[in-house]
Amino acid sequence: MSAMPTKTAMTVPLLDLKAQYAVLRAEIDEAVKRVMESTTFIGGPEVKGLEEEIARYSQTKHAVACASGTDALLLAMWALGLGPGDEVVTSTYSFFASAGTIANNGATPVFIDIDPRTYNMDPHRLEAAITPRTKAVVAVSLYGQCCDIPAIQAICQKHKIWLIEDAAQSIGSEWEGKRSGSMTDYGCFSFFPSKNLGAAGDGGMITAQNPELADRVRLLREHGAKPKYYHSVVGTNSRLDAIQAAILRVKLRHLDRWSEARARNAALYDRLFEGARVGRPYHDPRTRHIYNQYVIRLPKRDELRAHLSERGIGTEVYYPVPLHLQQCFATLGYTPGTMPESEGAANETLALPIYPELTEEQIRYVASTVQEFAAH
Ligand SMILES: Cc1ncc(COP(=O)(O)O)c(C=O)c1O
Repeated sequence: MSAMPTKTAMTVPLLDLKAQYAVLRAEIDEAVKRVMESTTFIGGPEVKGLEEEIARYSQTKHAVACASGTDALLLAMWALGLGPGDEVVTSTYSFFASAGTIANNGATPVFIDIDPRTYNMDPHRLEAAITPRTKAVVAVSLYGQCCDIPAIQAICQKHKIWLIEDAAQSIGSEWEGKRSGSMTDYGCFSFFPSKNLGAAGDGGMITAQNPELADRVRLLREHGAKPKYYHSVVGTNSRLDAIQAAILRVKLRHLDRWSEARARNAALYDRLFEGARVGRPYHDPRTRHIYNQYVIRLPKRDELRAHLSERGIGTEVYYPVPLHLQQCFATLGYTPGTMPESEGAANETLALPIYPELTEEQIRYVASTVQEFAAH
């Protein structure tokens, strides 16, 4: 019998930025027009305004805008003087930039495994990875849930090493009331369009409590020039466009409402998956989870993904290959089986649609389609 094409009851994309723009159109169009009419396209009041607003939002004294989340990490490590011969410890289960930026600074990434419940760095594994060459830790707050910064911080302080939070996915997340980006030497944010606070292109921000550390990254992002045309160090051009800043300032006003809607959607999925043969995301009660992603777990992940795709449901695998097994890091000598929690997560996790504009009907449709598969 030939397979009948599946009739989809509805379509649920992984993310629907058109739905967001439909609501914000007047505000965003006005912000873009404001910049066009001002003709201040680089720097200026929009960028400064966004820096102040993000600093306030993230409970930090300073925020420095830059061209992307990747550049935020690059600049932070550059400003700390990390380079050849230095080791930087990070989680092997993350987006590539967490480790690529270590290598691009000339330092060596040292990978450790995750806590399988949160998918964040397991602080219990950190100390064993520290050597006399270790200069910093990049702690990733994955999927929108702040990692255990106090535990990681205590180890970094003991060994006198820097701590950078890769907060690309966790703006507004908290650890016991303290915001992501506020507890470490540097916090690095991304405004990639799919983030909870996403630009209409690339963008990033570096937060710091220490004014001297903030000045260092500010200098590096402008070719090391202060004042203009007087270069005390060699830096680069990594600036945020004023149009992006203006758009982000509009969206920042809606961010808490969106993050709460994401958390409500997650709570509904959690209820609907109760008793189902699907691993639900773990919410550490010490955190405010902003659900940049809602990630479920089950052994037949790839089959489930195909099943959902046939029924009009968008999903994504974050991330299919842990960083220690990436081809570009083969020379570091890691082998399969050495980071079992991350390798297991890479094989079994799947991100479902969680964006704020999802309707209850869509969530119920996604959940029942997952359950229908998981029941077999
Ligand atoms: C954990 C993590 N780190 C770093 C980045 C890099 O940010 P960007 O894409 O803005 O360069 C991203 C996002 O893309 C990310 O998810």
